[in-house]
Amino acid sequence: MKCLVTGGAGFIGSNLALELEKQGHEVTVVDNLLSGTKDNLKDFKGKFVELDVSKPFEINDKFDVIFHQAAITDPRYPDDKETYRANIEGFNNIVNLAKKNNAKLVYASTAGLYGNGPVPMKEDQKKEILSSYGKSKLEMDDIATELFDKMHIVGLRYFNVFGPRETHKGRPASMIYHLSKQIKDGKKPRIFKMGEQKRDHIYVKDAVDATILAVYAKKSCIVNVGTGIGTNFNELVRVLNEVLGKNLEPEYFDMTYDPKTYQSNTQADPTKATEFLGFKSKWTLKDGIKDYMGWLYG
Ligand SMILES: NC(=O)c1ccc[n+]([C@@H]2O[C@H](COP(=O)([O-])OP(=O)(O)OC[C@H]3O[C@@H](n4cnc5c(N)ncnc54)[C@H](O)[C@@H]3O)[C@@H](O)[C@H]2O)c1
Repeated sequence: MKCLVTGGAGFIGSNLALELEKQGHEVTVVDNLLSGTKDNLKDFKGKFVELDVSKPFEINDKFDVIFHQAAITDPRYPDDKETYRANIEGFNNIVNLAKKNNAKLVYASTAGLYGNGPVPMKEDQKKEILSSYGKSKLEMDDIATELFDKMHIVGLRYFNVFGPRETHKGRPASMIYHLSKQIKDGKKPRIFKMGEQKRDHIYVKDAVDATILAVYAKKSCIVNVGTGIGTNFNELVRVLNEVLGKNLEPEYFDMTYDPKTYQSNTQADPTKATEFLGFKSKWTLKDGIKDYMGWLYG
């Protein structure tokens, strides 16, 4: 199939573009390089177009599927208005492009919408908007829901994705990336007191799998993309130490974020993704970390 990947120089987008290409699809990547980097596309053979999807643009190629990953992805990006504008205008432009092409649309939403709501998090539970980023993603989901009967559109609420090609993100990169660096450097891994906060960490290879399966979803829908397992920070440090052959005790420090804007416990209910997409995560946390550490440190 002919695919367009927006945000394809970013973390999930570059892994997706490379996997699609490996599976024999024809792939075009567009990205404005706001947070992403062309380094992520070193092995990519397809077409790369530098453009901002939140501004008017012309693409004359025809696509069967559009994977929309492009967004201002840092929930703490300093300009709230611009986060909202760029994410919503970008989404609307891509919806129009999909309509024009009669293409299927698979786009990235976020588990951030559940805020500090109950776990396991279900798609229809009450949302808690913690940032302008969250507000923009919820509005995208609302726009998509209105289109369910008119086109094939699937929204993916990714949980905490980690893996190769996320280094460019800096602070917003996964905690697995940051803690592994500290441990690798022989430093005590720094986590918030007392390490009981939980995350549903999903390996990027699983996230990419779910994203491709979404093309063949039974029907238009919005689903969680997580493992269904919440792992606390202490346990994560233990697994990282084990994989990296170290034994460094955590250094606890006071949480620096406003607790109202910080998710302290994420865990997906993955039932709907299994039902609609046939998706089930395959990588255990330990195996995903092992694979990733091999890529990161050789
Ligand atoms: N990584 C995660 O854990 C996670 C969790 C939930 C949701 N998401 C969503 O998944 C998608 C991909 O996230 P990521 O982690 O790969 O982030 P990323 O920052 O690495 O990738 C986003 C890419 O989009 C590009 N971009 C931004 N604005 C653009 C614009 N207007 N036009 C063209 N390109 C633009 C950036 O340059 C970057 O390459 C995002 O939509 C994000 O909100 C990610």
